[in-house]
Amino acid sequence: MTEGLMEKIVALCKRRGFIYPGSEIYGGIGGFWDYGPLGVELKNNIKREWWKSMVYQRDDVVGVDAAIIMNPEVWKASGHVEAFADPLVECKLCHRRFRADKTDEIREHGKTDHPRLIVDWTNARQFNLLVKAHLGIIEDKQSEVFLRGEITQGAFVNFKNIVNSSRVKIPFGIAQIGKAFRNEITPGNFTYRSREFEQMELEFFVEAHEKEAERWFTKWKEERMRWYVSLGMDEKKLRFRKHADTELAHYAKAAEDIEYEAPFGWSEFEGVHNRGDWDLSRHKLNYKDEETGKEFTPWVIETSGGVDRSTLFFLIDSYFEDAKRVVLKLHPKLAPVKVAVFPLLANKLPLVKLAKDIYHNLKTKIDGMIAFDDRGNIGKRYYSQDEIGTPFCVTVDFQSLEDKTVTVRDRDTMKQDRVKMGKLVEYFKDKFS
Ligand code: GAP
Repeated sequence: MTEGLMEKIVALCKRRGFIYPGSEIYGGIGGFWDYGPLGVELKNNIKREWWKSMVYQRDDVVGVDAAIIMNPEVWKASGHVEAFADPLVECKLCHRRFRADKTDEIREHGKTDHPRLIVDWTNARQFNLLVKAHLGIIEDKQSEVFLRGEITQGAFVNFKNIVNSSRVKIPFGIAQIGKAFRNEITPGNFTYRSREFEQMELEFFVEAHEKEAERWFTKWKEERMRWYVSLGMDEKKLRFRKHADTELAHYAKAAEDIEYEAPFGWSEFEGVHNRGDWDLSRHKLNYKDEETGKEFTPWVIETSGGVDRSTLFFLIDSYFEDAKRVVLKLHPKLAPVKVAVFPLLANKLPLVKLAKDIYHNLKTKIDGMIAFDDRGNIGKRYYSQDEIGTPFCVTVDFQSLEDKTVTVRDRDTMKQDRVKMGKLVEYFKDKFS
């Protein structure tokens, strides 16, 4: 089943309206992707579940939504202007550029693009990933700003505001979801390495002690892994990978990635970092404990997940096919369409009317997208809903007109329940809870 899996996922995403190449009618633009009607639902569901578990279900985390463009001084203080860089090498034959640490891609380039030649490379040089823009009418150094390279700094620059305006006390966290931009040298593997992407991050502030930071680091690592598994990701395809000292980002004291076994190899999609007091001390920010009067610079444990990478891995992980059908076995909480309603026959008006009534009723009572379909035959409609991961299909048939019951077909077991129309909302609320 894994053969050609990436190609199948990419084709399904385009055909069914999950993900399209950005600006496609103008030939596209490398590293940018647009989410279609189903993709935006899946992505929103992932973000909603994340927010629920990180903010609503806890009493030690609050949210923030900071601006994408910040005073450029922020990026100098955070170390990104100086150190947010990847090593870059250039092929001397065709001048294509690659990340020096992506040895597989470099080897592949030689083999496929210059099979009969010996490829010579330039020495590695550092390439800053921050995307620049200009504000105002004169384009000079003064007007230069950066699109944020990580959403993180928005939490730090608001640290004092949040402490002063809410009732948080250390240990506490600031959660945020938003877009980040990186001038990636080689975007690729579909949405995996993009130049515009979304992050969902927690910055968790703790006492300035190594042991306390380690304790929270372990807790958050476990919590984040648990979250992915709770939403159906296959545990066997997940692992932690500890960063060696030589690969740590400029702000990190310790880091472990959560990796997924993708068709293109084990790949990071969330990082848990011990940022120590790097950020708050660079921004010259402190915390005063009101009870003890003690002032100190808290340490930060960060969980930084990629919304686009999670979306991609939830899609890959849920993909299933056999001789009869293709199914996305997405967790019901993530599925873009929650329930699809069908009249058994499209030309029997009483069936269509009743199905439409049920459809409209579910739309107002169930949280999420409800679909109506009267095209083709029932088999084709089931096929179509399975392929986009709809967990339940309701069919209105002739018996429905007599006894006010409908069939509810379960995507995974393909079993059908006969359910009273008056109990449908309750039935689904129970299934989705
Ligand atoms: N604030 C810490 C930080 O940004 P990171 O490891 O550079 O850490 C965190 O990024 C997450 O953001 C990654 O695990 C990944 O899911 C996502 N991410 C980073 N670069 C990305 C890219 N070019 N395309 C898509 N997602 C990316």
